Amino acid sequence: MREGKGPSIQRLLDFGAALLQSLKSEMQKKFYITTAIYYVNGAPHLGHAYEKIITDIIARARRSLGQSVFFLTGLDEHGQKVQQAASEKGISPQAYCDEMAIQWQTFVARLNISNDDYVRTTQPRHKEVVKALLTKLHDQGDIYQAPYRGWYSARHETFLTDKDLRPDGTWDPAYGEVTELVEENWYFKMGQHQEWLVQYLESHPEFVQPDYRRNEVLGFLRAETLEDLCISRPSSRLSWGIPIPFAPDYVNYVWFDALVNYLSVPASMGDPATALVTGATATGASIWPPDLHVIGKDILKFHAVYWPIMLQAAGLPLPRQVLAHGFWQKDGQKMSKSTGNVVDPIAIIDEWGVDAFRYYVVRELDIGPDGNWTDEGFRQRYAAELANGLGNLVNRSLSMLRKYRAGRIGMVSQELADDAAEAVRGVEVCLRENRLQAGLAAVWTLVNRANLYVEQTKPFSLAKDPTQAKRLDEVLYNLAESCRVLAVVLWPFIPDTAQRIYAQLQVCGEPSQWRNSAWGGLEVGHETGEPIPLFPRKDLPPKA
Ligand code: MSP
Repeated sequence: MREGKGPSIQRLLDFGAALLQSLKSEMQKKFYITTAIYYVNGAPHLGHAYEKIITDIIARARRSLGQSVFFLTGLDEHGQKVQQAASEKGISPQAYCDEMAIQWQTFVARLNISNDDYVRTTQPRHKEVVKALLTKLHDQGDIYQAPYRGWYSARHETFLTDKDLRPDGTWDPAYGEVTELVEENWYFKMGQHQEWLVQYLESHPEFVQPDYRRNEVLGFLRAETLEDLCISRPSSRLSWGIPIPFAPDYVNYVWFDALVNYLSVPASMGDPATALVTGATATGASIWPPDLHVIGKDILKFHAVYWPIMLQAAGLPLPRQVLAHGFWQKDGQKMSKSTGNVVDPIAIIDEWGVDAFRYYVVRELDIGPDGNWTDEGFRQRYAAELANGLGNLVNRSLSMLRKYRAGRIGMVSQELADDAAEAVRGVEVCLRENRLQAGLAAVWTLVNRANLYVEQTKPFSLAKDPTQAKRLDEVLYNLAESCRVLAVVLWPFIPDTAQRIYAQLQVCGEPSQWRNSAWGGLEVGHETGEPIPLFPRKDLPPKA
């Protein structure tokens, strides 16, 4: 204690210093955002693409708005199904995963996803952290051994639950003989956290979003008793998993393993907040805890119940938010490969471009409810909103500037400045609240305003009247500048198109910084380039 200062003053000083320290680390902390990790044995489809795209838009928006971001996506590679698929192909599970991973990583690239890292649960960095967490929980007495009793299908080499029963209470003959089996296993003491989790969810309404999903979790937790979680599988039954360090004849249950991916990457990078689990010296960037887990509604229980309890038990700060999106259907029906009722994102991208795909899924479906893909709906939005809306605006603004002024900006004007500022503000509010569909609608208020402005001011008529030369300069400025502002606010959603607008305007750099959405970026004398259609019109097939 310093001389002359009483204990209460010292306490105040200590409090101030601690506050400053936590503010400092909060300011240094990156915005950490994740998608789920995808089963490596599945084929990438519309639902997976949607999740990656909405997460990418949130990540890009945060970067544009000045935050440091760490965006993680990846693959879930252990488990029975992978083991089976590999043995059917006659290759090792690892070789099978490596083969499939190429397809998944290409998928990410085709969607233009800006992830900072790509985690695979077979990577040593991940396996080490899973083992460290299991060891810690075991040493603390949070993991114990007990018999597991259940219905076992030898043909499928798996335990069945009541959910697998047919409506008449019998097992599907496809399971073969189903017998009751008792097996020693390892359990994580999850049940004891039930009361705490209810209180946590009640006092942190932002933790699970949308609200109705949070209510579902609370409803479940209030109505049912939370059981301890069986976290092991005997390696005699399942060998393709992470060995349990204190029980070498067992591998870790895949969901426990998979959830830890969110922790293993920051931990392997030396994040100070995770040293508690790894015991490693903390030297890396501050990422933990995750700011946002973006997942589908079907895996909410794992993320909003199991995961926070695992972290709480380990003494780690909890993720700040779990955002659950809905499920896509096609033509009002569940997508299924066997019936051919699927949307192939890559085929759509090949035909229409990545941004048409990104635009449609976000404009069509808000984050939360279920969505329905129709080819007709996609074509309509493409034609009306992209080709005739945005594409036409950029094309005619630049064409007229070239035709009447050789592409040169003649004067600066503020006529559409307020409309643009209002749209930008609207989009920003939506992006900060992860309301992406509303964000795109707000962008289109400026697209529509500027298109209307062309109709109202008729630059093609002004060009015929030499006394209107100044007015024409003014109008052309407002159009070109609106296009420039649009590029900046569109960047998170459709980055390729935003970049192409910048390129056609011959503005240097990337439209990736929100501050450049302020009106007045184009200067007198600036020369814009050739317009190239952003969304070429396609002839629609005749209606049946
Ligand atoms: N591997 C687990 C997740 C582990 S996360 C620690 C898994 N994988 S998955 O491949 O089945 O699903 C990955 C994500 O895609 C999940 O968030 C899931 O909700 C989402 N979707 C799967 N099908 C979907 C639709 N039809 N529509 C929208 N999203 C869907 O679960």
